[in-house]
Amino acid sequence: MGIFTRDSFNSLDDLLVHELKDLYDAEQQLTTALPKMADRAKNPTLRKAFQSHLQQTEKHVQRLESVFEHRGLEPERETCSAMAGLIKEGDVILDADGDSDVIDAALIATAQRVEHYEIAAYGTARCFAHHLNDEYAAELLGQTLDEEKATDQQLTKIAEGAVNPSTTGSRR
Ligand SMILES: [Fe+2]
Repeated sequence: MGIFTRDSFNSLDDLLVHELKDLYDAEQQLTTALPKMADRAKNPTLRKAFQSHLQQTEKHVQRLESVFEHRGLEPERETCSAMAGLIKEGDVILDADGDSDVIDAALIATAQRVEHYEIAAYGTARCFAHHLNDEYAAELLGQTLDEEKATDQQLTKIAEGAVNPSTTGSRR
């Protein structure tokens, strides 16, 4: 939301556009954060997961551009303060010293917070698009939603299978 201008919400269409601009900014913030997270990850599976999610995230940006275009709008960013906050919290981990397995676990915790935020935002945006009978937008937003969910599940698997057991001493 702009500092000097007040947004106006009078229709579901206004809300959808607001969500799209917010997501467009959030995804671009992520394209800057994910390479740093990949570099910091020690576990090779985790590093690869961050790298492949970066590629997906670039696709998510393009899908949002297609949705803007489909709705006759120029793609526009609106600062996503929530994503900025999540990334800021993640920066504490990136700058931290410590055991690399514990750092990996912390990176996963950060990434899953990001995924859950995106899942909520894409779920909402897709729902708005459905209500507006914009099935093209709903389809594209749904594709991204599915990829965010899959990433979240993959991170859980990595955490349970490789990273967290060693930090809790439960690995045999
Ligand atoms: Fe995404």
